[in-house]
Amino acid sequence: MKTANEVVLHDLSYMADCLKSEFLAMSGKRLLITGGAGFLGHYFVQGALHWNRANPSQAPISVVVYDSFVRGMPTWLSGMKGDVNLTLVTHDIRYPLPTDMGDFAYIIHAASIASPTYYKRDPISTMDANVNGLRMLLDYAQSRQEKGRPLEGLLFFSSSEIYGDPSPDHIPTPETYRGFVSCTGPRACYDEAKRYGETLCVNFAHQLNIPVKVARPFNNYGPGLKISDRRVIPDFARDIMADRDIVMFSDGSPKRTFCYSADAVIGYYKVLVKGQKGEAYNIGVETPEISMVELAEKLAAFARDLFGYKGKVIRQASEDVSYLVDNPNRRCPVITKARMHLGYHPSVTLDEGLRRSLIWYQGNRDAQDS
Ligand SMILES: NC(=O)c1ccc[n+]([C@@H]2O[C@H](COP(=O)([O-])OP(=O)(O)OC[C@H]3O[C@@H](n4cnc5c(N)ncnc54)[C@H](O)[C@@H]3O)[C@@H](O)[C@H]2O)c1
Repeated sequence: MKTANEVVLHDLSYMADCLKSEFLAMSGKRLLITGGAGFLGHYFVQGALHWNRANPSQAPISVVVYDSFVRGMPTWLSGMKGDVNLTLVTHDIRYPLPTDMGDFAYIIHAASIASPTYYKRDPISTMDANVNGLRMLLDYAQSRQEKGRPLEGLLFFSSSEIYGDPSPDHIPTPETYRGFVSCTGPRACYDEAKRYGETLCVNFAHQLNIPVKVARPFNNYGPGLKISDRRVIPDFARDIMADRDIVMFSDGSPKRTFCYSADAVIGYYKVLVKGQKGEAYNIGVETPEISMVELAEKLAAFARDLFGYKGKVIRQASEDVSYLVDNPNRRCPVITKARMHLGYHPSVTLDEGLRRSLIWYQGNRDAQDS
């Protein structure tokens, strides 16, 4: 794989292979993806449309994206506008749903800015997208149920941030850990909205039998995560692509496990189709857990191999004084539940995923700061 297009095509085929039964379950049905113009939308949308093209004898999955495009219209999505199985709707999920939305069999609620730099700029919108937006989708699901046309699955995107900053004896972190989270700090608009969102899901599942399931993503990265997103891997990639030193905004000690986007989206589709109603699933990888300085050094070494990059890793304070406030020291999941119950087996190694990401960034180095 030498070009961004080759990386994406390879990932889409891998996803179609790993999601045979899930895509077949969605065949001929309508799938709504809120926030489908975002990073994870990149493989959610293209994954389903690729499956349609690769399986012409099956009834196609009809994909509808609701997005406010608050972070812009990505070129990969505008380039797909001619696909008859894709409908793009400009809709802000904080407001009432369109009255003519029709029947959806599956809904993925991913509309919520994930980058701390951006979600902290408008904390009230962040809360509203996760709480009010989710509530309107759950009410829609309930109304479909009352009409005798129930949804088959609704997936709410929670976050590993609901665990806050776990003490070392709770790392790796299983779904049963209750969290250690600030309800008033700079990240609370996100963390607490995700926590309340999960409470809504559990109670709509138990009281009203709505087939809503919850995914808790642990640090995803890869193609589709735009270079201006201000999460750590695109930040380092931006320095590499500009041929300058890689700037770290921490002392380099916080540790994370990173899950490649193709593996992560496979996990999310499995939660949507096969997850138990009212249940939450960690989606990520258990190893390797690496520090930010190790990550920066790894990326620099791969970039040297791939493009003759000559920069080094340096440290600098962020202009955003709250950049590191409530930033968890370690984040590492237990994924036994998703492995055992859903057949989720992520297989792209960190080294391979980082190489693919750098190749993708080389072909996608321009993105607006929005
Ligand atoms: N990527 C990760 O590692 C990660 C980790 C934890 C949680 N999540 C969750 O997964 C979901 C998707 O994450 P992502 O990385 O794709 O995020 P992203 O920021 O790349 O994309 C979010 C998308 O949602 C849209 N959006 C935001 N507010 C909206 C609103 N009010 N109405 C309609 N559209 C709106 C944006 O325009 C954007 O297209 C989010 O709920 C996020 O909180 C992601």
